[in-house]
Amino acid sequence: MGGMPVPPPETTPALRWTVPVTTVLTAIVVAVPAAALSGAAAPLALGDAGPFVRWGMVLIETVHHLAAALTIGLLVVAGFLVREGRGTHRRRSAARVAALSALLWAVCAAAILVVGFGDLAGIPPSSPGYLSDLVANLWGLELMRLRLIEVLMVALLVPLAAAARTRGALAWAAALALAALLPLAYGGHASGTDGHETAVTALLLHLGGMTVWVGGLMALGLLLPVLGSALPDTLRRYSSLATWSFVAIGLSGVLFALLTADDLGDLGTSYWVIIWAKVLLLGMLGCFGAVQRRAIIDRGADRPWLFGALAAGELAVMGAAVALGTVLSRTPPPSIEASEGTDTAVYALTGYPLPPPYEAARLLDVWQVNWFFLLLALVAVGLYAAGCVRLWRRGDRWPWWRLLVWVLGWAVFVYATNGAPGVYGRIMFSQHMVMHMTLMMAVPIFLVPAQAITLAYRALPARTDRTLGPREVLAAVVHSRWARVVANPVVAGAVFFGSLIAFYWTGLFELALTTHTGHVLMVLHFTLAGFAFVWSLVGQDPGPPRWEPPLRIMVLLVTLAAHAFFGLAIMQGSWLLAPAFFKTIEVPWVPDLLADQQVGGAIAWGVGELPTVVLVLMVMVDWMRRDERESERSDRRAERDDDAELAAYNARLARLAERSGR
Ligand code: HEM
Repeated sequence: MGGMPVPPPETTPALRWTVPVTTVLTAIVVAVPAAALSGAAAPLALGDAGPFVRWGMVLIETVHHLAAALTIGLLVVAGFLVREGRGTHRRRSAARVAALSALLWAVCAAAILVVGFGDLAGIPPSSPGYLSDLVANLWGLELMRLRLIEVLMVALLVPLAAAARTRGALAWAAALALAALLPLAYGGHASGTDGHETAVTALLLHLGGMTVWVGGLMALGLLLPVLGSALPDTLRRYSSLATWSFVAIGLSGVLFALLTADDLGDLGTSYWVIIWAKVLLLGMLGCFGAVQRRAIIDRGADRPWLFGALAAGELAVMGAAVALGTVLSRTPPPSIEASEGTDTAVYALTGYPLPPPYEAARLLDVWQVNWFFLLLALVAVGLYAAGCVRLWRRGDRWPWWRLLVWVLGWAVFVYATNGAPGVYGRIMFSQHMVMHMTLMMAVPIFLVPAQAITLAYRALPARTDRTLGPREVLAAVVHSRWARVVANPVVAGAVFFGSLIAFYWTGLFELALTTHTGHVLMVLHFTLAGFAFVWSLVGQDPGPPRWEPPLRIMVLLVTLAAHAFFGLAIMQGSWLLAPAFFKTIEVPWVPDLLADQQVGGAIAWGVGELPTVVLVLMVMVDWMRRDERESERSDRRAERDDDAELAAYNARLARLAERSGR
């Protein structure tokens, strides 16, 4: 055969099971004394479920968190970071172990569901009728419901991970595994405190950062024998994920701290002593990361044994941090002064105290930080700016005004979700409509012209080893059949208008007013529906083929006419939307609920006008530009082929004239 020697197929050496096992053992060794010191396993004065439940929960939750981390780590490493070589089976090895750790995760989650009921009800599992009581409360109690959802999601993950062989299948399994952290975050201990939404956001960031970081390192340590020549690239890619996780954990730790201390005295409590210990451990992990980068990654990972040794040390510290975190999540935080206005119907139903009476002067000075949306906006702006800097540093052109409209779009988003519309929109229909229309119309009109997809394509490096990097994932999404459907102007218009009907004339509106999940999903849906609609009309990014401008204008006018009709229907309607909610909260400055609702209808009807004009103008400008480009193209073609097209046309006319004998 001559030419290149065929490399011998890589055998599949034994995986390093010691890595996850030592991490779990370290965590258990730390969790027991920490729980004893902090009182996390101390008998309760009232409703004590007994030592088996108290200690059982600490140990099961510790193993649970590490099993979740290992599953997510293996699926992320196999799905996004590691390349497959000739004759290697790195992804298959990772998927197999991920299925096993997912099984352990599911068993732990089921044990938490069963033993945790004792914790909730304050009864030992040995008490008569325990199981029937548990089954009776399985869906009724929110925490039980969340734990059951987690068990079902992780149970589904086991066969999915076992069968995953391709990058796509592993990526989807990783997405499901990360989604299975949501019920945990919603049911977390801190989420019971004042500022429920902040606590959920913090726990989501904390658990997401922890599982990718700790799980990723456990996976790399375990797979080290099969990584071979793929180690340097895999480590480099893991290292940037680890940096993001470090920031996410630090930030969420601070958010937690904000929730659990309101005076200096608290900083010496056993709760806080554990927090300080965790801050120290996070600092140590930061140092480990710096050493790994300097001694391993920058040198092209030429000493895998040294990486293995450093990783073992790092994982021991991570195991300790996870143990302390689990203990903390079971330790009563220092008693916090309940903030003012927490004993009202408004607080009970929305999770927020009544804001000061509404008046126009307050539109700029009433704010309530919603960390989830604020962080979302900051990350979006940060990534976009980083992309611009990368292009400009490379000497590539990218208009600064695109960065400006992107920042403006997110500033409007933050105002709508954290400012007066977001604050009063939770308790007044009219202000809710201001928030809704701003998210659906104003925000996308700024964001779409920023061409974030084009910037990402140009700024993100392309992977050359058939692995799924951020650019490849973006391309897969943008060119997917799903994107083709949602970016179709008619579908986007139907979703744009249809969502209004589906949202306001079903229980969804009340769900969004009274639940955190409902509120977050509402804001995300309306913003994305607006973005897809505006993008389908005037988007310039690569993606599904664009419709002809006249057709787009027609879809725009029909959709916004329907939208105005919706506003009119509310403006003239005599029935109250979400009546139970608005009547219960009794907002003192909204004596006439229907009148306020009709103002909301007028806003929906009126607000549509300006964006319609702006969008029609944007389509017209696009239309003119297309024509210009088309005529430049045909001019260039005419120059190249001596205007063959005109010649052909004239010839056809001549033939026609000949045939008609003129
Ligand atoms: C600045 C450093 C950190 C701070 C301030 C911090 C703070 C906290 C707090 C307050 C909780 C309790 C949340 C609750 O009550 O539900 C917690 C939970 C937790 N932390 Fe941290 N943490 C830090 C670093 C870390 C690190 C480095 C790790 C692991 C690598 C970690 C892993 C965890 C885990 C697994 C939980 C349990 C979550 C739960 O079960 O609800 N934390 N952390």
